[in-house]
Amino acid sequence: MAKQNWKHGTMLYPVPAVLVTCRHGGRDNVLTVSWAGTICSDPPMLSISIRPERFSFNMIKSSREFVVNVPTADMAREVDFCGVKSGAEVDKFKALGLIRTKARVVRAPVIAQCPLAIECKVEEIIELGSHHLFISRVLGVLADESLMDNKGRFHLEGAGLLCYNHGHYCRTSRPIAKFGFSVRRKSKKR
Ligand SMILES: Cc1cc2nc3c(=O)[nH]c(=O)nc-3n(C[C@H](O)[C@H](O)[C@H](O)COP(=O)(O)O)c2cc1C
Repeated sequence: MAKQNWKHGTMLYPVPAVLVTCRHGGRDNVLTVSWAGTICSDPPMLSISIRPERFSFNMIKSSREFVVNVPTADMAREVDFCGVKSGAEVDKFKALGLIRTKARVVRAPVIAQCPLAIECKVEEIIELGSHHLFISRVLGVLADESLMDNKGRFHLEGAGLLCYNHGHYCRTSRPIAKFGFSVRRKSKKR
């Protein structure tokens, strides 16, 4: 297929759009982050990249803790709002009716409406340029019981999670196949 050659830039999509919560100096805040990803399985680690001008930046840099709250596509409005409004001007929890619950390990709050919350501790901060990379250890995961089946399996594929695709919020709720399906042998009919 014919391709156009564009000037360099970031173009890896889709990416998550998560609600990162933090607590510092007697205040809570939440911001939307798309430059986020898993970077190691064992030990479990993820990273988020944040611009120093964000209100949350110094909160996370000082507390060295945060929670990654994974939203559903039904929460697109909340995700967008938390990505365009600053905690310096507005209490985003109050404005959106986001319910805060306690995390297990860190002091940053968990957003009850999100089906998944990942508690993180910052291990290293690297200044890359526009964004600083927060390399972080996962200390715990809180998963919504409503997505568990009666065998205790977690069905995140059915949660209708949100992703961000080149300026658009999308829903990720149409599973195509299971991991390993391309090499799995079909069971013989008896
Ligand atoms: C979809 C989306 C993704 C975003 N991703 C990031 C990101 O990865 N890093 C970042 O610093 N800001 C990102 N932003 C911008 C911040 O969320 C936004 O500036 C927010 O208002 C900062 O809030 P705060 O000032 O309360 O910390 C994103 C915004 C949107 C809408």
